[in-house]
Amino acid sequence: MGGMAETTDAAGPSGAGTSTGRVVVTGAAGKLGRAVVTHLRASGWDVLSTDRVRPGAAGGEFVVADLTDYAQVLEVLTDGVDEHVAPVDAVVHLAAIPAPGLVPNSATFANNATVTWNVFNAARAAGIRNVVWASSETVLGLPFDTPPPYVPVDEAYRVRPESTYSLVKALEEEMAHHLCRWDPRLKMIGLRFSNVMDPEDYAEFPGFDADPALRRWNLWGYIDARDGAQAVRRALEHAGTGLDVFIVANADTVMSRSSADLVAECYPGVEVRKELGEHETLLSIDKARRVLGYTPEHSWRDTRPSPPPA
Ligand SMILES: NC(=O)c1ccc[n+]([C@@H]2O[C@H](COP(=O)([O-])OP(=O)(O)OC[C@H]3O[C@@H](n4cnc5c(N)ncnc54)[C@H](O)[C@@H]3O)[C@@H](O)[C@H]2O)c1
Repeated sequence: MGGMAETTDAAGPSGAGTSTGRVVVTGAAGKLGRAVVTHLRASGWDVLSTDRVRPGAAGGEFVVADLTDYAQVLEVLTDGVDEHVAPVDAVVHLAAIPAPGLVPNSATFANNATVTWNVFNAARAAGIRNVVWASSETVLGLPFDTPPPYVPVDEAYRVRPESTYSLVKALEEEMAHHLCRWDPRLKMIGLRFSNVMDPEDYAEFPGFDADPALRRWNLWGYIDARDGAQAVRRALEHAGTGLDVFIVANADTVMSRSSADLVAECYPGVEVRKELGEHETLLSIDKARRVLGYTPEHSWRDTRPSPPPA
């Protein structure tokens, strides 16, 4: 695994590479899921949202389901929610326990591996051939106790999961590779998201500057949930078949000091493979830009802090 670049550029089968249609979004009540649902709806997609909890202020079609139960997953992806709705063209799978350390490892493994198998397998059973899911920056070797092989890190080296959470993400990528091998009409895109941020999170960013070690673990990267949603839409609309994976981060770091200085201080001896812009991300998004047309539109640097209450 790693170094995967397997989608063909040929026009995909029905369902892959379309710019609208009916899509199920799992994990829709979550941080990334809320932004994805909003963005896909605004872009003309007919979204059926699902999660095991109901989001506070969600509009639109939503069904509560526990995705560890295969029967429920199959029903969500076919006609088991409402017999009168249109068939599903695509799946965006975001549901997961979203980090190491939140629950014991075996619970992370049991939930995340089961849910993803259920979603991938039910999509196959339902004939859905356009699948986009949340992988994670962690497969690149976070928290980089072993330094990265070079920076900016990219998709060209073999995955290095260092936690059970990340191991499941790596297994998902491997599983997707084989599912695409079994069905040449299938398109599966794994988005290796950086640390997801909402605009209200940006208030704490200036505090990161005092100690570069604070955010060393993910090379000072982040992904604005709205840009993450854009990447999801572009992956959905990308024509092709087979598996591909992309790092999805913002164009800059969370820091005010330069990216070159951060590498020199915290990762001395690590090869720097390109001339770095002042605050250029060390999680390369060159492939997502080139193949998907992903263009980050947000930066914490452009977000003004909210005024104090009057
Ligand atoms: N948050 C990050 O920094 C980050 C970084 C990289 C990748 N990711 C991945 O992105 C995805 C979304 O993350 P997020 O930050 O929005 O997390 P989140 O916890 O806010 O949302 C995940 C959602 O999945 C749902 N879920 C979990 N298990 C479920 C189950 N068995 N059945 C039904 N629903 C279930 C939860 O209820 C939750 O609403 C996850 O796959 C996560 O691993 C997150």
